Amino acid sequence: MGSATMGALKEDYDAVPVPTARRLVPVSLLLVSGTGTGVGKTVVTAALAATARAAGRTVSVVKVAQTGVQPGEAGDLAEIARLSGLDAAAMHEPARYAAALSPAAAARLEGRAGPSLPQVQALVRGLTGDSDLVLVEGAGGLLVQYDGSGWTLADLALGLTAPVLLVVDPGLGALNHTALSMEALTRRDLTCAGVVLGSWPVEPDQPDLAARSNIADLELIAGHPLAGALAAGSGRLEQDAFLVAAEAGLGPALGGWFDAADFRRIQGLAPRA
Ligand SMILES: Nc1ncnc2c1ncn2[C@@H]1O[C@H](COP(=O)(O)OP(=O)(O)O)[C@@H](O)[C@H]1O
Ligand SMILES: [Mg+2]
Repeated sequence: MGSATMGALKEDYDAVPVPTARRLVPVSLLLVSGTGTGVGKTVVTAALAATARAAGRTVSVVKVAQTGVQPGEAGDLAEIARLSGLDAAAMHEPARYAAALSPAAAARLEGRAGPSLPQVQALVRGLTGDSDLVLVEGAGGLLVQYDGSGWTLADLALGLTAPVLLVVDPGLGALNHTALSMEALTRRDLTCAGVVLGSWPVEPDQPDLAARSNIADLELIAGHPLAGALAAGSGRLEQDAFLVAAEAGLGPALGGWFDAADFRRIQGLAPRA
């Protein structure tokens, strides 16, 4: 092949638009929600914090309301700090309630008002001016209420015009929970920053039939390839190993090199049509 042809090919190649999900325009504000509690929001938030920190970005993390934890006890932010190496000063927890309930219900039980939407919105806005990346972890799923007025993470996303990352447990039940969450986002004209599997089984465990089968259906529901899948057990790793797991488990738009097509191939699934 002559060099003229090579040159033409190169020009053709350069003209191919880079798909949005591949472009490394780092997001500066991300709300991390999920299909429910215990799906891996905290571990995914820690992974996002770890990759951003490793890339030299300054990061702040907000846990909108921590429930089920006594004063002085370690909550989600302590876990995120431990895994990502971020300083405690980068962590913000506007509200904490002892009962393991929704923030609104836990606050009510203590005769207190939950955190107000303007208060949390102002906190997050302020942080966006100081940090390259602000991560906001919600409590439970998207429509969990924070106080007596009934405001939810969806309202915060609307107020801040922020994208919402949806963390999903890949097992049986994921399709309905994900479809409901996507419908709630779409109805409000909110942007979904992607669907990430919070905990994907790895050796010696095997993903069951539901988890394997769900990959393709989740991508159809999301309308995009998976934005990431964190290996089960990564939340128990030390900081250095966690960063490796975080980069392997998050797609390029989220700071890692997870490739949904590779993931499907490794799981023995057919390529997307
Ligand atoms: N990738 C993971 N590796 C290890 N443990 C995980 C992972 N994802 C979730 N877990 C575990 O599952 C539980 C729920 O995860 P967590 O991140 O706290 O969920 P959420 O924040 O959505 O409530 C925790 O005990 C956590 O340690
Ligand atoms: Mg959590």
